[in-house]
Amino acid sequence: MSICALIENLLFSEVVAQTNCSTAADAMTCLRAASATTLETANVNISNGGLFGTFLLVPVVDGTFITQRPTLSFMQRKINGQALLAVTNTFEGTVFVNQSATAVTAAQYSSELFPDFTAAQANTVENLYSGLGSDIFQTSAIQGETIFICPTYYMLSAFPGRSFKGEFAIPPGFHGGDLVYYFPGTSTPPFNNTAFIDAFAQSFTSFIINQNPNIKVDPSTITPSWSPFAVGDTEMLFNQTAPDGLPVVQPITTSSALLTRCQFWESVGNLTAQ
Ligand SMILES: *[C@@H]1O[C@H](CO)[C@@H](O)[C@H](O)[C@H]1NC(C)=O
Ligand SMILES: *[C@@H]1O[C@H](CO)[C@@H](O)[C@H](O)[C@H]1NC(C)=O
Ligand SMILES: *[C@@H]1O[C@H](CO)[C@@H](O)[C@H](O)[C@H]1NC(C)=O
Ligand SMILES: *[C@@H]1O[C@H](CO)[C@@H](O)[C@H](O)[C@H]1NC(C)=O
Ligand SMILES: *[C@@H]1O[C@H](CO)[C@@H](O)[C@H](O)[C@H]1NC(C)=O
Ligand SMILES: *[C@@H]1O[C@H](CO)[C@@H](O)[C@H](O)[C@H]1NC(C)=O
Repeated sequence: MSICALIENLLFSEVVAQTNCSTAADAMTCLRAASATTLETANVNISNGGLFGTFLLVPVVDGTFITQRPTLSFMQRKINGQALLAVTNTFEGTVFVNQSATAVTAAQYSSELFPDFTAAQANTVENLYSGLGSDIFQTSAIQGETIFICPTYYMLSAFPGRSFKGEFAIPPGFHGGDLVYYFPGTSTPPFNNTAFIDAFAQSFTSFIINQNPNIKVDPSTITPSWSPFAVGDTEMLFNQTAPDGLPVVQPITTSSALLTRCQFWESVGNLTAQ
């Protein structure tokens, strides 16, 4: 049995124990009868004991309800949608890594994140990320790329010619920094510039209406022609200049080093359960 499968069994036992279902004749019946508060308490408690920034009670491939890894389905183009607009933020992983744990190496972190890794995979990760900066920068990049950024490219590839990629880079570029642009009024946008806000937010409304951000709800936005990702790994960068704070909305090409790292992560999908 893989370490991941052992962990799934351990987590189930832990949920059963923390909901007082250990002595029940049927643990599932007991869990279904448990109150939401009891389940919530067990969830929070168990997740607090896990690796920083990870969520322990997540969907798993059980072979019945979820029959295969999602990235495999993307590879096989088993999709329901017609088109895809995907935007990632520059530094998705930073808030999900303990920034005080500065001595953790890329190899150590990848083994903690993916317990089925052997030394061989951990060493490959060490080599792939060694040029990127400090240990903590590397571990943050591993978190962001494995959980958010690389899976986005797998999804883009499942819609060839019908998928568009954006990068939200307004500093600090952390996970969630884009939310206020989709849900205005919740707080002040980090870059409060009308031309930028219209360009970024209307990419989504235009896509929702037309499955293509180039068919604009308001043709006057500053977003230039946006090629599908399949055309030369094109992305639309949404950023601002420093220090004068002018919008930067322009096409860029995805880093080939990033795509190489993503290919590695895709190749070990059996071990990461992705
Ligand atoms: C929460 O988890 C810890 C172990 O991480 C355990 O000792 C404790 O009993 C748990 N609390 C509850 C309410 O189950
Ligand atoms: C589990 O049982 C113990 C002992 O009866 C009780 O103190 C505790 O509140 C129960 N926990 C839950 C989540 O029902
Ligand atoms: C973060 O890392 C520091 C340094 O290793 C450690 O002392 C601290 O307990 C960690 N915090 C959490 C929430 O894991
Ligand atoms: C954001 O920009 C709008 C339009 O220029 C302005 O009315 C508003 O006061 C700005 N908000 C903040 C917090 O600066
Ligand atoms: C975004 O712009 C900032 C300056 O405002 C710059 O430091 C950063 O490198 C840019 N990010 C990207 C991904 O281009
Ligand atoms: C990887 O997973 C696929 C399906 O999930 C399976 O067919 C294949 O045998 C696995 N390969 C290895 C090396 O475990």
